[in-house]
Amino acid sequence: MQERLITSLRQPEDLAAEMLRPTRLAEYIGQGRVKESLSVFIRAALSRGEALDHVLLFGPPGLGKTTLAGIVASELGVNMRATAGPAIERPGDLAALLTSLEERDVLFIDEIHRLSRTAEEVLYAAMEDGCLDIMIGKGPSARSIRLSLSPFTLIGATTRAGMLSSPLRDRFGINCRLEFYPPEEIVLIIRRTARILQLKLTEEGAQEIAGRARGTPRVANRLLKRIRDYALDWQRDEVDRDTASEALDRLDVDRRGFDYLDQKVLRAIIEKFEGGPVGLETLAAVAGEEAGTLEEVVEPFLLQQGFIMRTPRGRVATAEAYRYFGRVMPAREEAPQERGLFDEDGIV
Ligand code: ADE
Repeated sequence: MQERLITSLRQPEDLAAEMLRPTRLAEYIGQGRVKESLSVFIRAALSRGEALDHVLLFGPPGLGKTTLAGIVASELGVNMRATAGPAIERPGDLAALLTSLEERDVLFIDEIHRLSRTAEEVLYAAMEDGCLDIMIGKGPSARSIRLSLSPFTLIGATTRAGMLSSPLRDRFGINCRLEFYPPEEIVLIIRRTARILQLKLTEEGAQEIAGRARGTPRVANRLLKRIRDYALDWQRDEVDRDTASEALDRLDVDRRGFDYLDQKVLRAIIEKFEGGPVGLETLAAVAGEEAGTLEEVVEPFLLQQGFIMRTPRGRVATAEAYRYFGRVMPAREEAPQERGLFDEDGIV
């Protein structure tokens, strides 16, 4: 499968992006509501000398969930241990992490919806009662002992809060939904990154990149780095609108920030399913992608841009999607649920 330059999923090269991550709330651009509420809760926890309540961060990939978790730990003045749901193979792995935490530390679990059921059960008691039940021995002589843990803050990150079991979701006292960033905030993020990379970037250059960055800082920063390579190759000492635009065209990122996969998905709905509705699995099979990738990575941006709608009967292309391909949407009888009266879970 072709690699997507504009994938919002973390890529190995993004690890070098550590130096680009803001470390304090004041440096973090955008997500105003989340920032404001977190700063209140952090101040309150600090003034009481208590651990911050457990925090659930949810939203599409690349919007800064890991960055925000690191910021919360710095603002609290504590250490952060980071792991991810799939990395915790046995409940014992999680027990080892939990017992290594010092008072008020942050434990960050990325992709928390992929935690195994048994590991999840270890978390329940840890989150609610601050303790760990451990089985010692096997068979008739087995017994359980209860260890108490230092007070800690769990920060869980997930792309879809709906995929979390409700007992786990209920144990988070603070819930934050991250949204795609508007272009003007992406401009600020790109300019900050350019400053750190010591790259000359004009305001128009930043705007050009922001227009194609899918409202996603991870994508914006990755595009900026690739454009920087082109600028070097073309011996341009600054990135202006033309340089950015020419480089982005070479990178096959179009004016809307769409790439071949977005186009393939939209085309499939329009051409193979007469605009939909088409079920996720069918669409994934036709697009040659995994349903999960389509749902968590491709669809959120198409939905946010108003190119598709999710209905209980499947995905539907909108008039905007037809316009994008220079076509007119055929008139058709709309069922009520296709007029966007339902949210993604099919609830009005
Ligand atoms: N880099 C990535 N995301 C950022 C954000 N929200 N603010 C500042 N820099 C960032």
